[in-house]
Amino acid sequence: MALGSAPAKIILFGEHAVVHGIPALAAPVSALRARAEAVPAAHPGVRIYAPGFADALPADLDSNEVDNALAMIVRLVLREFDLTAPALDIHLQSDIPVASGMGSGAAVAAATARALCESVGQAIDPEILNRLVYEVEKLHHGTPSGIDNTVIVYEKPVFFIKGDGPKPLTVGKPFQLAIGDTGNPSSTRAAVAAVWALYDQDRVGVTARFEAIRQLVLSARSYIEAGTPDDLGGLMTKNHALLRELTVSSAELDRLVDAALQAGASGAKLSGGGRGGIMIALVNDATRDRVTKALQNAGAARVVTTEIR
Ligand code: PMV
Repeated sequence: MALGSAPAKIILFGEHAVVHGIPALAAPVSALRARAEAVPAAHPGVRIYAPGFADALPADLDSNEVDNALAMIVRLVLREFDLTAPALDIHLQSDIPVASGMGSGAAVAAATARALCESVGQAIDPEILNRLVYEVEKLHHGTPSGIDNTVIVYEKPVFFIKGDGPKPLTVGKPFQLAIGDTGNPSSTRAAVAAVWALYDQDRVGVTARFEAIRQLVLSARSYIEAGTPDDLGGLMTKNHALLRELTVSSAELDRLVDAALQAGASGAKLSGGGRGGIMIALVNDATRDRVTKALQNAGAARVVTTEIR
């Protein structure tokens, strides 16, 4: 038996703008993971068993349908290393909410690739894995920036610019975030396309917002590296306001952000693709429980706290 796993992720600052070349900051959430278990099978070829799919997925299907994203990573790995498909069952399991801005698709793909490589004794370095998972992300997202696969494969906080290699983000002093899940899945592909459409309509207005987000990302990076995370709160709330103006918030996200702020969080914003999915709030030992309760009372389907370190 061979095991592979990969974490969830959150975007701290800069989602959407990152697709248009602005830097962004993201961090792994190691407590929430996708796991893949590969076991030798009696049948030829690779089959994938995933929750939500009644039947096993034959991984040698040669199609790029979205439903086939799970199989695609298997084909990419086999092709990359010139391997013939082993006789294998891959069982997937994940704690990460799907279509919620936490990188579920990238984490499942990374976990699958790791279990497959492990089962055939093939080493896979992070640079190759990152490139292959990015191919799968394109199937999910259309024009992904590459931030999800990068933070998930390296499992480290990153300062990310589309098209550049991963740059580590050094966390001077750990800080806590409460992650509130609206429970509403949302298509990142559709939200990214909506921002493109807005950009085509109003280049000047949208560019001004992207530039404002750039300044927030750069300030946030300095505070995180300098070990003054308490200063991040105001930047988060400003980033949320700009994302609202880019039309990627929702009534539920706004409600959770307001509830967190009223309960004493020093900042809050949606995180990831938006229009559903998750939001994050900056908390500490004194505010964590109150903010968690307020998020639950405001309708969060799930609240998880995480430490960024
Ligand atoms: O996968 P999500 O929902 O966390 O979205 C990724 C962040 C975006 O900036 C919206 C898209 C991208 O490709 O960077």
